[in-house]
Amino acid sequence: MAINKMSGKVAATALIAVRVMVLTALPLTATPAPADQAAVKRGQAVVDEWCRDCHVREGEKLTADMAPPYSIIVKGDKRDRAWFEAFLAADHFPMATFRLFDHEKTDVVEWLLDLQKREVGN
Ligand code: HEC
Repeated sequence: MAINKMSGKVAATALIAVRVMVLTALPLTATPAPADQAAVKRGQAVVDEWCRDCHVREGEKLTADMAPPYSIIVKGDKRDRAWFEAFLAADHFPMATFRLFDHEKTDVVEWLLDLQKREVGN
């Protein structure tokens, strides 16, 4: 129990560090138009609020009870704008517990595509 608590704390601290790195790195990443960057930031906020309960955060170990991290999701087959839009438009078990507004879905797609660009480098 004590060990679990400890590692949870370490993970939480690491998460904060990763977030700070991601946030500070964002303005440095190359070239998307400013409007896109605004959408990416809004998308990130939506994901932080609604999606992180289930999806493993960067640097965390993927356990059986957690959904895959986005860095893996964006590297899957045919993960283009159309795929992400279709995915977010439909309900997915067990993700049916979340409901996003359409403008939030749009922003999340921008965030996923931006992450993909950073992960895959295309
Ligand atoms: C209740 C837990 C839960 C929540 C909340 C959740 N997800 Fe998921 N998600 C999962 C699980 C489990 C999977 C893997 C199973 C599957 O593919 O259906 C998944 C899969 C995905 C996939 C596709 C993975 C793939 O490669 O096929 C995407 C994209 C995704 N989630 C995005 C999101 C976004 C964006 C949010 C927030 C708006 C979110 N999820 C919130 C549990 C969740």
